[in-house]
Amino acid sequence: MLVLGIETSCDETAAAVLQDGNRLLSSIIHSQNEIHSRYGGIVPELAGRSHIERIHHVVADSLEQAKAKIADIDLIAVTMGPGLMGSLLVGLNTAKAMAYASQKPLLGINHLEGHLLAIFLQEKVEFPYLALIVSGGHTDLYRVDGFGKYTVLGRTRDDAAGESFDKVAKMLGMGYPGGPLIEKKARRGNPQAHKFPRALLDRNSLDFSFSGLKTSVRNLVQKQNGQQAQLSVADISASFQEAVVEVLVTKTLRACAVESLSRIVVTGGVAANGYLRARMTSALSQKGLSGYFPQPVFCTDNAAMIACAGFYRYRHCPASPSNPLTLDANANLSFESGLNP
Ligand code: KG4
Ligand code: ZN
Repeated sequence: MLVLGIETSCDETAAAVLQDGNRLLSSIIHSQNEIHSRYGGIVPELAGRSHIERIHHVVADSLEQAKAKIADIDLIAVTMGPGLMGSLLVGLNTAKAMAYASQKPLLGINHLEGHLLAIFLQEKVEFPYLALIVSGGHTDLYRVDGFGKYTVLGRTRDDAAGESFDKVAKMLGMGYPGGPLIEKKARRGNPQAHKFPRALLDRNSLDFSFSGLKTSVRNLVQKQNGQQAQLSVADISASFQEAVVEVLVTKTLRACAVESLSRIVVTGGVAANGYLRARMTSALSQKGLSGYFPQPVFCTDNAAMIACAGFYRYRHCPASPSNPLTLDANANLSFESGLNP
């Protein structure tokens, strides 16, 4: 079975062709980093416009690289939410037009389900497992009992972890996206140089909060303005990253204990962070738990994970194998609001 996946929820224009759920024939990702870098964050209007300019090339390239024609495709899976409305609409309308013209089934996919199942591109993880989605828009803990069986255990009450990486990078005069830039700087810094707050760590809650941490970095940076001695950007980056990672690792271990789960998938853009991967791996193995990490290229936004979620949804959720062409994008789509309205 060949699935064409299309993803345009944020600032990556992506298309992929996946065979039988795990044989990736192509995965094209056109990143808009260059466009948004100078603003230190995503400008939604520019994102939407860039998707329009790139989407046809990206889809055509993905089919060509897979040596497939649209006639060979069995299913078109496309992100329908959550995300930026102007961005989502470009991918969704492209998918709808292709489905209409080729008479192929169309399936709207929740972007988060793509992150939850991205690991299946590499290996099958036995259910149930705990998933930490840590990205630019989300920091959520899920219990995954099967395809389509997702229970949220905790989520951020304010900023997402990736968002805080991006905001701190902006304060420190770096570009966008901030995560990889902070990770690089942090390699030469002292993670104990500044003791930034770890919110909600002493409570039983599985929720997260990163806005206090961000404010604490801002206060430090502002205080240094006008002073002679310059603070080290490497030390601030390392100490900030340390605070985020400590919270993520501690809450993940807590969720495993509460839910009695021994398999943990760490996914989403921030899961590309080598320091988080190393710290999480060692913490899990100390407790005899098994960690699963999608390759970094499957952690950040991509269409292969959307094709993968489409494949499993089509196969395992027979009640709603495809959507009508009236399918609409939903910027705030949640699992509670239904995966396949
Ligand atoms: O999953 P993703 O590509 O898009 C969303 O669904 O949000 O995640 C993007 C986020 C950005 O905030 C980016 O700074 C962060 O992931 N990120 C990282 C790293 N690579 C990407 N954060 C920390 N370290 C990284 N290496
Ligand atoms: Zn994402």
